[in-house]
Amino acid sequence: MPLTPPGRGGGSSSALPKRRATRQVFFIESICDDPDIIEANIMEVKLSSPDYEDCDKEEALDDFLKRIECYKTTYVCLDEEKDRHLSYIKIFNVGSRYLVNRVQDHIQSRIVYYLMNIHVTPRSIYLSRHGESELNLLGRIGGDSGLSLQGKKYASVMADFIRNQAIKDLKVWTSHMKRTIQTAEALGVAYEQWKALNEIDAGVCEEMTYEEIQENYPEEFAMRDQDKYRYRYPKGESYEDLVHRLEPVIMELERQENVLVICHQAVMRCLLAYFLDKTADELPYLKCPLHTVLKLTPVAYGCKVESFYLNIKAVNTHRERPANVDVTRRPEEALRTVPEHF
Ligand code: G3H
Repeated sequence: MPLTPPGRGGGSSSALPKRRATRQVFFIESICDDPDIIEANIMEVKLSSPDYEDCDKEEALDDFLKRIECYKTTYVCLDEEKDRHLSYIKIFNVGSRYLVNRVQDHIQSRIVYYLMNIHVTPRSIYLSRHGESELNLLGRIGGDSGLSLQGKKYASVMADFIRNQAIKDLKVWTSHMKRTIQTAEALGVAYEQWKALNEIDAGVCEEMTYEEIQENYPEEFAMRDQDKYRYRYPKGESYEDLVHRLEPVIMELERQENVLVICHQAVMRCLLAYFLDKTADELPYLKCPLHTVLKLTPVAYGCKVESFYLNIKAVNTHRERPANVDVTRRPEEALRTVPEHF
C-alpha cells in the first residue's frame, strides 16, 4: 500500500521532535503514469499474486486498473513545496527521472545510489566457478593455480553451453586469478577482470588442506566452524569482509543486463546469497559445486534459479559444518566433514 507522509493526508501530528523525525525517515515514492508500463507491470507482477489465482488475464488487468483508481482517491503524493523539509526520492516511470530531496546521511545516500542503479529490463545473471584447479584436486584452499585436465574440459563445455544459450549482449567477468581467466579464455570473447571477484583470502592458511589447518591451527579451525560468516583468517578475510569487497560488483551487476560471472566458491556464495536473500548463517554453507552453471533470472518478488551441471567430473570442495565445533574437540571430529581429495 502506498504510504502518506506524516503531517499530510489527515494524520495526527507526530510526537517526535521534527529534527529527529526527518533524520530517521526516508520516503521512497514511485510514480508511474505511463499506461504501457502500468499494463506491463500488472501482467508481469500482479497476475502472479494470490488475488488473481485462476483468474482470466483481461479480467485481472481490468480489476487491478480499478484498484489503482481507488488508491488514487486516498493517496497523497509528496509535494515539492509542502514537503521540502522531508528526505525522499521520487522515482518517475521506473527510473526515467528522479527527484531527490534532503539526503541527510550515508544510509540515505546509499539508498538513493542503489535505487538509481537498479532496472527492470528482463535479463539473466549466470554464475559459475572456474573449472577444477590443480589445487582443488589436492584439497588445498586458495592459491593461484591453473586448471586441472577436468577443469580445462569444463571450460570448453561451458563455452559451448553459453553459446547455445544465445544470450543477447552477454558480458563476461572474471577475477584476477589464473583459474577464472583460463576458464573464460575458452569462450573466445572479451572479458573483464575484477580484483574484487578474487577468492576469499585465507591468510596464513592459503594453500593448506583442511587437515593441515586443523593440525597447525586447531583453535582457528574450530572458531571458523563456530561462526563461519564472521570468522576472519589470521592475515586474511572473513565472509563478512568479502561481502563488503563485493559491494561494487553487486552494484554493477544491478546496472548491467546479461552477465556471466566466472568466480570462486566463497565469492559465488556471497553473490548467490544477495540475489536469493539468504542469511549470514546460511551464506557460507550455500552449495556452489564445481562445473555447474547457475542461471538467475529476476522475477516478481524474487529470483528464479536454474542449475546446469555440465557433466564433467570434478572434486567436491564443500565442507559442511561438523556437529562438534568446540575448541576442545578431537581432530577426527573436526575433520569429519572434509570432502575427499588426493
Ligand atoms: O577458501 C576457499 C574456499 O573456496 C572457501 O571454502 O569457506 O567453505 O572453506 P570454505
